[in-house]
Amino acid sequence: MTTSSVPATLFSELQHKIQQRQARVAIIGLGYVGLPLALLYSEQKFPVTGFDIDERKVATLAKGETYIFRIPAREIQQARSQGFSATSDYSQLTQMDAIIICVPTPLNEYHEPDLSYITNTAEAIAPHLRAGHLVILESTTYPGTTEEVMVPILEKGNRKGLIASRGEAAKGQEFYVAFSPEREDPGNTTVARRDIPKVIGGLDAYAADLAAALYGAIFTRTVRVSSPAAAEMTKLLENIYRCVNIALVNELKLLSLRMGLDIWEIIEAASTKPFGFHPFYPGPGLGGHCIPVDPFYLSWKAKEWDFRTRFIELAGEINVNMPYHVLDSVSKALNQHMKSLNGSKVLVLGLAYKKDIDDLRESPSLTIIELLQKQGAQVSYNDPYFPSVGRG
Ligand SMILES: NC(=O)c1ccc[n+]([C@@H]2O[C@H](COP(=O)([O-])OP(=O)(O)OC[C@H]3O[C@@H](n4cnc5c(N)ncnc54)[C@H](O)[C@@H]3O)[C@@H](O)[C@H]2O)c1
Repeated sequence: MTTSSVPATLFSELQHKIQQRQARVAIIGLGYVGLPLALLYSEQKFPVTGFDIDERKVATLAKGETYIFRIPAREIQQARSQGFSATSDYSQLTQMDAIIICVPTPLNEYHEPDLSYITNTAEAIAPHLRAGHLVILESTTYPGTTEEVMVPILEKGNRKGLIASRGEAAKGQEFYVAFSPEREDPGNTTVARRDIPKVIGGLDAYAADLAAALYGAIFTRTVRVSSPAAAEMTKLLENIYRCVNIALVNELKLLSLRMGLDIWEIIEAASTKPFGFHPFYPGPGLGGHCIPVDPFYLSWKAKEWDFRTRFIELAGEINVNMPYHVLDSVSKALNQHMKSLNGSKVLVLGLAYKKDIDDLRESPSLTIIELLQKQGAQVSYNDPYFPSVGRG
């Protein structure tokens, strides 16, 4: 299907606004993903408004200050001088042209997807939707979320009878929907954000064209896939690939230890192969908002299809066990000096889930500290990003 037959309507109006950098961009969820994205659009001269339910974040940005370590306050001030502002008032959405959603997608206490942030956001957007809006979900989630969960809420929750464009002739009542996964790698300075290709799955070709135009304005390359579900699955494949390979190398590390081999030497040697090998490294467990969480979005969804994702489950089992391996290693090391964990003073270096990051989410250091304390160790930690830390 091509979009050339569409009359000069909502679609071409928005396309024109994007090309002219006049499209007003709303970023919902100003966290590790949403705030840098808002700044990127602002840098490229788009009028940007950020939306967040966290009033403290809104107030911090209003003062030209920052709450993410790697984003200096001067970048916020620069964006503010270009017109960037933040609000928790969803009614301002009616003045926007494109709405990009970057809210969290955690697991609940039963290790199942918690879509409440997405559903709450969709419910909050729906009354303020207008014809011609482009709504893009970026939060990592299972295939089907955009179409099966978000779109029905947007369609039912607006009182104007607006419907998502699904490739039919425009009636002037459409809004456009796409999914485009975030590929942010905090702390990685080897690739500029704009050089990370942006995958896009539109609900129809009109939505895909608009989303490609919007992202094409700030990213060097956009990659279109056939549907939002294909884009959702692409992101999960990327994260599951990492999760499974990390588990593989963690398991081989445990075996290497037993066999008296040095896994690091082996990985370094294997990495000299110019094809077919990509190095992954062992560690004390998985951390961050993505790799320990996202694979379980897919294994949950797979059950609906009577399918067990065994690789994901096995990788999860191995990775979750790594902090226990650390505990065991510390205990054995102390034992060699005729000491016990109970009563020993232990210093943990690094709290965040990886180096140079002010993000504690799912960090294995927290589990390790808790395990050490349970054995009676007196634990201290050092991490320049966290002068203090609460429990849990
Ligand atoms: N952090 C990463 O490195 C990374 C990388 C790739 C993908 N992702 C994905 O991006 C998404 C966002 O992750 P994040 O790390 O930015 O999360 P985050 O917790 O840092 O930020 C989310 C923001 O959304 C806000 N929010 C929650 N509900 C809201 C609502 N109803 N309306 C407005 N704002 C709301 C929160 O207050 C918070 O500021 C997740 O799905 C995550 O899996 C994250």
